[in-house]
Amino acid sequence: MFLRHVLLNVKSTVRLSPQTIDRLIHRSLASHAKNSSSQKVSLEDKNSETDGKTVQPIIETKGVRKEREKADFERLSVVERITKKYLPSHINSIVIFAIVGIGYVIYEQVKNDFEIKYTFRFGSCPNFKFPEDQLLERKELLDTLTSIVTPVPDKLVSSYYIVVGDHGTGKTTLIRQAARKAGGGVIYVDVPSNVEKFGASFARAIRFNFKEHLRLSTWIESKMFGSPPDEGKEASWERVLMSFRKYAHHYRKKHGRVPVLIFDNCDSLAKKDQKMLEALQDSAKIAIDDSQWITVFVASIGETPEQMEGRSSITRASSFIQITDLSEEEAMTYLTEKRNLSKDLAHDMYALYGGRLKSLQKAATKIDHGLSFSNIRTANLNDIRRRLEKIRCRATTQEEVFIFNILCGLLHKSELTVDELIHMEEDVSIRQKVLEELCHETILTRTVSSGAYIFHGQSAKVCVEEFYKEKKCFRCKSIKDMLF
Ligand SMILES: Nc1ncnc2c1ncn2[C@@H]1O[C@H](COP(=O)(O)OP(=O)(O)OP(=O)(O)O)[C@@H](O)[C@H]1O
Ligand SMILES: [Mg+2]
Repeated sequence: MFLRHVLLNVKSTVRLSPQTIDRLIHRSLASHAKNSSSQKVSLEDKNSETDGKTVQPIIETKGVRKEREKADFERLSVVERITKKYLPSHINSIVIFAIVGIGYVIYEQVKNDFEIKYTFRFGSCPNFKFPEDQLLERKELLDTLTSIVTPVPDKLVSSYYIVVGDHGTGKTTLIRQAARKAGGGVIYVDVPSNVEKFGASFARAIRFNFKEHLRLSTWIESKMFGSPPDEGKEASWERVLMSFRKYAHHYRKKHGRVPVLIFDNCDSLAKKDQKMLEALQDSAKIAIDDSQWITVFVASIGETPEQMEGRSSITRASSFIQITDLSEEEAMTYLTEKRNLSKDLAHDMYALYGGRLKSLQKAATKIDHGLSFSNIRTANLNDIRRRLEKIRCRATTQEEVFIFNILCGLLHKSELTVDELIHMEEDVSIRQKVLEELCHETILTRTVSSGAYIFHGQSAKVCVEEFYKEKKCFRCKSIKDMLF
């Protein structure tokens, strides 16, 4: 590619156009006139034609030429005059090009360095994305999270953190509030659902520019000869992490505190790129051992904490910090004070959704838009029922018995332990398949503390009570034997 461009450039220089030939004749005649010291030079073959064009004779005295050149010079801009005066014309372009190139590279590096240091100094975290007057204060959880995301002196660094909670319990809102409260030295990274864009997302968080290591030769080559610059190839999260390490060190030396790095919504990593999650967890462990920075992973209950738990680097993590649903009192405050709903309606909503913030928020917004609560309720329960029917449809009779035993069991007990599940179904493959499907369809979830199974949300429990208990379709043989 490079050679092809060089050859093309050389070829275009060598190929002579009619105008170029005219200029050459012109120059040789002028130099002849100079050598013979004659006052006038006339060209004999005035009318000779080259490629159909007439070559005009040049009759110019030395003084006239000087005056013409002076007039030409005065017409130039200041920069052009300086360039013409001090730089021989054939190297002008090369020198200017090199100066601009070097200037550009230095500018990019200084700018990038300043921006990253600025980001570390003042922290980087976007605000939550809903109106502030709808924000419910969750003081206890906020204080806990603020204490873990506030940069501390390196002597106090002991572990990295994993914050977990069900989908929609308010993890992102709380961690962003805490990060903004802590301020300087806190970097928040929102892991995108498309994990290939993680590098770009991480880079945006610290305002890292992938041109940081731009080499002059690479830049000139790409601009002159069109060879592709290396930005795309090297826009990897590893490069950002290397740069993060360098600036974390600088921040620690300058401010005497260890910066904090938050990875929110890590679930997509666990689902789509387990290796990347492992590498990040390992880097979090090394960073703790060397007191370089503190990492905080935020994820939903399920795959992510389970995968992270299975690695040796979990030894440097503190025990899981759990974000729970709202209590009844908090939910009532949110619905009546922040969403201006009546107490009766708030009670009905709590009965259906429990304290799951996302569900309460969605239903309250629909009510704001004029929908009736009974319609919202019916649609929600039908949705859960459809998912349950899908599982039933694919199940064998033995699997179906197990499904109903679980659902019925959870109407009697708040959670089912692994021992109880083994008692219900001894066949491990059936047990695994059914539990996986119920979790995948968000009917069940596992608690982080004990690993027991619970309903994913209050509405799943209401659905089972309404559609299945009434029909008395449970085959509760094994349930009856158990002492609930
Ligand atoms: N403190 C709060 N006050 C009022 N509304 C809140 C609060 N926290 C969360 N919400 C509402 O709940 C919604 C979901 O919150 P958030 O995105 O923080 O949950 P999450 O646990 O991070 O969810 P996911 O697991 O899907 O990432 C928000 O869009 C917001 O409307
Ligand atoms: Mg979130």
